[in-house]
Amino acid sequence: MASISIKNLDKTYGKDVNVIRNFNLEIVDGEFIVLVGPSGCGKSTLLRIIAGLEELTAGEVYIGDDLVNDIPAKNRNIAMVFQNYALYPHMNVYQNLAFGLKMRKMPKQDIEKIIDKTATILEIKDLLNRKPKALSGGQRQRVALGRAIVRDPKVFLFDEPLSNLDAKLRVQMRSEIKGLHKRLKTTMVYVTHDQVEAMTMGDRIAIIKDGEVQQLGTPQEVFSCPANKFVGSFIGSPPMNFITGQMQGNIFFNEYVKIDISDADVSIPSDGELVTLGIRPGDISIDDQGTKLTVIASELLGDETILHLSAGEETILVKLSSIFDTSIDDEVGIKFDSAGIHLFDPQGKRIDNLG
Ligand SMILES: Nc1ncnc2c1ncn2[C@@H]1O[C@H](COP(=O)(O)OP(=O)(O)OP(=O)(O)O)[C@@H](O)[C@H]1O
Ligand SMILES: [Mg+2]
Repeated sequence: MASISIKNLDKTYGKDVNVIRNFNLEIVDGEFIVLVGPSGCGKSTLLRIIAGLEELTAGEVYIGDDLVNDIPAKNRNIAMVFQNYALYPHMNVYQNLAFGLKMRKMPKQDIEKIIDKTATILEIKDLLNRKPKALSGGQRQRVALGRAIVRDPKVFLFDEPLSNLDAKLRVQMRSEIKGLHKRLKTTMVYVTHDQVEAMTMGDRIAIIKDGEVQQLGTPQEVFSCPANKFVGSFIGSPPMNFITGQMQGNIFFNEYVKIDISDADVSIPSDGELVTLGIRPGDISIDDQGTKLTVIASELLGDETILHLSAGEETILVKLSSIFDTSIDDEVGIKFDSAGIHLFDPQGKRIDNLG
């Protein structure tokens, strides 16, 4: 078991493809941390640097108290699980699990014991004689996990390990990996671009964009207090609405909406200041006395309705936890829940409640 400390990390490919900039992250011993961000933001690069599969350009990586910059991957005692399970096709499950241990010259009886224990945890004891091609995607992924577990590493790194699985299996494997973490209590770093996966699995989440941490916090923290517009839109589905306007007293307004924010938990900007108001679709409700906007689309999702309302160039989404019968071009009155109001400055940074 070990903590991981990343200090002032920079990674440049070739001369000038700078993919990670001054990156800092402290991962606590035994923690399950999720790195989440859009495609190309540098998640895999980071994991590969932690694993020692990629050189860093500048900065320091510590595992426990050890500076590992110059320690080769095989001596870092880290196990990595990838999206494509990379099992040996000509070996059966038992041999796949045993391979790394044999290479380390572990006695046969010890190998048997470890594999028996691991196969029990992962419920793959019946599959030990099968070749990978005779396994389902979920079973293969379990074997890949098994191969990581038998090594008894200090740290597990996961790079989108579930993205090849269908939706139902993905949900099941999510809780299996969480269960595994509960049992093993080993530090786990899990990379995904799926915010739902991040929210449901992480003790803490680091939201990354363009090689930089935008926010680090518990799922609840990043959801209820997004540090900037990017985090607000990336976490939560459907995404947060952003409405641009300006202040006059306690009123936020533009051509289409007028919102009294005196009850919201925010510092009220000065008159005339340009701000962006953020509000989640679930924090808006129907109110016949409220702001009137035109319906441009309505999605019925069984037990909820997502309304798309036009506010000039901006579209406001409203999530209703019931079926709401309406047609395109109807006018609907809405109310903004004060508790759900966030404000952002013109650079997209959250305006905190200073009071
Ligand atoms: N060997 C390389 N040479 C040059 N650029 C690279 C190399 N490897 C990765 N990159 C670039 O670095 C950036 C980060 O890549 P990385 O694979 O870390 O992204 P990611 O966050 O894992 O994305 P995804 O979610 O698509 O897997 C990308 O813009 C990618 O094109
Ligand atoms: Mg990747």
